[in-house]
Amino acid sequence: MRRPIVAGNWKMNTEPGPSLDAMVSALAHHPSILRAHHAGITVIVAPPFLSIATVAQSMHGTAVHIAGQNCHHEESGPYTGEVSAQALFASGATWVLVGHSERRRDAYEDDALVGKKAVAAVRGGLTPIICVGETLEQRTAGITHNVIAGQLLGALAIAGRDVFAASVIAYEPVWAIGTGLAATPEQAQDVHNHIRNVLASAGVSIPVLYGGSVTPENAMELFSIEDIDGALVGGASLKPDSFGAILDAAEATWRVA
Ligand code: 13P
Repeated sequence: MRRPIVAGNWKMNTEPGPSLDAMVSALAHHPSILRAHHAGITVIVAPPFLSIATVAQSMHGTAVHIAGQNCHHEESGPYTGEVSAQALFASGATWVLVGHSERRRDAYEDDALVGKKAVAAVRGGLTPIICVGETLEQRTAGITHNVIAGQLLGALAIAGRDVFAASVIAYEPVWAIGTGLAATPEQAQDVHNHIRNVLASAGVSIPVLYGGSVTPENAMELFSIEDIDGALVGGASLKPDSFGAILDAAEATWRVA
């Protein structure tokens, strides 16, 4: 059974204060949230660490789940500047992104570390959203399938089947992130189907979200693709109305007739 999910990754945007409060209040009361919830769609937002507790409090009693954008692979200890899955959970998060391409790029996270983070997340009570995706150079070189399989199997070798079975995958082609250039339906379906096959060969069947320049304009087309189970939205999740419009597209796609 498919479990549609739409998540908004706020990245390093918003800061605590009145403008965040106004945005969160608009989101909490947005009619699209309730409609999506009734259609069986899981709605998630991933604020910066410092706003997780406040956003979680404001979203309490709504259908919006809270995610961290990253977590450390250990529960506690001498890791200056890091945040544990336990701390995220205690602050109100129930989900966490791991292995986002911006962390692979800026914090040199490799597949093994991503696998360890997925383990830490599940141990801390969070559902990991494991991100994978190829760069433009890799796509141009024709090695997209190999890269994606390597990322999945590299993390799976560390995390194990049970942790993967409790996770969600987000396919985010690096060249589509923040560029306004989303994957075409053919490109997205090709990789999503590949991801499903790689996971199936390991006995895992979990939702696969698409991320990379998802907007209210292209959401419906992306959601209608066979192997897409939802979206991980960056820029367009920062405005309640555009995030709401993407939720509406999800609702129209997955509403039980
Ligand atoms: P954009 O939607 O801004 O392209 O970002 C996608 C993303 O990286 C979500 O995690």
